[in-house]
Amino acid sequence: MSMVPTLLSVEGLSKSYGGVHAVRGVSFELKAGEILALIGPNGAGKSTCFDMLNGQKDPDSGRIKLLGEDTAGRPPRAICRLGVGRTFQITATFPTMTVRENVQVALVSYRGQLFNLWSSTPWFEQGEAGRLLELVGMGGYADRPCGELAYGDLKRLELAVALANQPKLLLMDEPTAGMAPRERIELMRLTARIAREQSIGVLFTEHDMDVVFEHADRILVLNRGSLIAEGSPEQVRGNREVRAVYLGEGLVYDARHRKGLSV
Ligand SMILES: Nc1ncnc2c1ncn2[C@@H]1O[C@H](COP(=O)(O)OP(=O)(O)OP(=O)(O)O)[C@@H](O)[C@H]1O
Ligand SMILES: [Mg+2]
Repeated sequence: MSMVPTLLSVEGLSKSYGGVHAVRGVSFELKAGEILALIGPNGAGKSTCFDMLNGQKDPDSGRIKLLGEDTAGRPPRAICRLGVGRTFQITATFPTMTVRENVQVALVSYRGQLFNLWSSTPWFEQGEAGRLLELVGMGGYADRPCGELAYGDLKRLELAVALANQPKLLLMDEPTAGMAPRERIELMRLTARIAREQSIGVLFTEHDMDVVFEHADRILVLNRGSLIAEGSPEQVRGNREVRAVYLGEGLVYDARHRKGLSV
């Protein structure tokens, strides 16, 4: 008897580019507070799935129910307004503004305030911005210009910016891309901790299998557009088809990644 609400349900989602079936008949659900990983080799269709979920691409067919609403074909802004956060967009930050001001801008935009942003940000939502920065371990950087941040710190700032919108669901397509292994693990650990504390659902993709197996409650495996496996990390780790797919990807997944699947 579970009272946990379903945040996202996808049914028969499909998308082709010309003759390429990027995503075919994908169905799954995600519940509040659940951390769900969507994995698969390069070109499996992960980004195409994310793009349909966050409104950047229209599905050819299938249904997407986000927070109770049918959102297939709706634009990104409308989906964001429902409480769906997208991390981590480097371009979402303003380099000359301070770290705190970047979060203030996000808070101002979330509240839908209509006033002169530039003259008002010095005080608006300063306290809340500080609280969010503390949450992601960036309290000490509040007065620094954003442009000076190291890449990993910028990613934590982007998490704070995403949280300013009080999302119920976070969609993260390779949130740790470009980061060193150590930093990847730390960023996902931080994200997972906050998500669990606030009962935020997370759908993420990540090529580092160590990160996936450490954080995902459940894993979906895509190959050539279709879901080939779904289950707990243990179930997926032991799945023969999944292991075969990853072994076949020897050029893409180095020994470290394959180790994560215990192949
Ligand atoms: N805009 C596009 N036009 C044509 N084909 C595309 C387009 N975007 C993606 N594809 C193709 O669709 C398939 C799925 O691509 P997608 O980017 O969704 O995979 P992915 O799982 O995100 O891969 P990666 O791990 O490399 O990010 C691939 O065959 C890709 O070449
Ligand atoms: Mg991708």
